[in-house]
Amino acid sequence: YESGNINIAIDGPAGAGKSTIARRVAEALAYVYVDTGAMYRAVTWYMLLKGIEPEEDQKVLQTAQNMVIELKPGVDGQKVLVNGEDVSDQIRSLAVNAKVSRYAQIEGLRNLLVTLQRQMALRKGVVMDGRDIGTTVLPDAEVKVFMTASVQERARRRYNEIKDTAAITLEQLEHDIAERDRLDEQREISPLRQAEDAEFLDTTNMSLSEVTDAIISMCRTYGKER
Ligand code: DC
Repeated sequence: YESGNINIAIDGPAGAGKSTIARRVAEALAYVYVDTGAMYRAVTWYMLLKGIEPEEDQKVLQTAQNMVIELKPGVDGQKVLVNGEDVSDQIRSLAVNAKVSRYAQIEGLRNLLVTLQRQMALRKGVVMDGRDIGTTVLPDAEVKVFMTASVQERARRRYNEIKDTAAITLEQLEHDIAERDRLDEQREISPLRQAEDAEFLDTTNMSLSEVTDAIISMCRTYGKER
């Protein structure tokens, strides 16, 4: 793993802390972090802007094929650009939260984004987080983690992140997260589920550094076992 020759797949439900952990692991190993949720969010933001509904799947696909989505590492986290415009904040809005799982059910759109994600991982040295990375996007990833925490704990964490800027109650967040879990788990194409060869990590009672260390030690073990 020292030479950047493995890929790390991190999957799990909304609010499990995947992005924070994936970013930390990438930093520690000098790897590239790829946030696939941000790609589904960028598409959702753009469709809302253009007034294209998730039911119009052909139109969604055509429009998405002509979008340029870029993920750029920045000083204060990863920047997400759509056709050159920085939409990093907009893609985290409640409007996007509420709709993203609907667009993420469109098969053609998933195929398009999965192709892009595989290209990003070709040269290895990538930490990728999402819902279907270990099962579909990178089934050959050397290290796979399925990370979760109780719905209450996930809602609490997200609440602490956004309570100063968003007008939403903890109860509402809990409800939104449970609903997004349901849609992500029950969709037909690459639903959220643990890959058979993924390590299960329940982070409900773990700190950020405990989780980060656990994953880095899986990478070390992988290196030794080869
Ligand atoms: O990780 P996130 O909350 O930013 O993801 C937003 C949504 O995108 C999530 O509800 C489901 C969808 N998603 C997906 O279907 N597949 C992925 N690999 C990543 C995200």
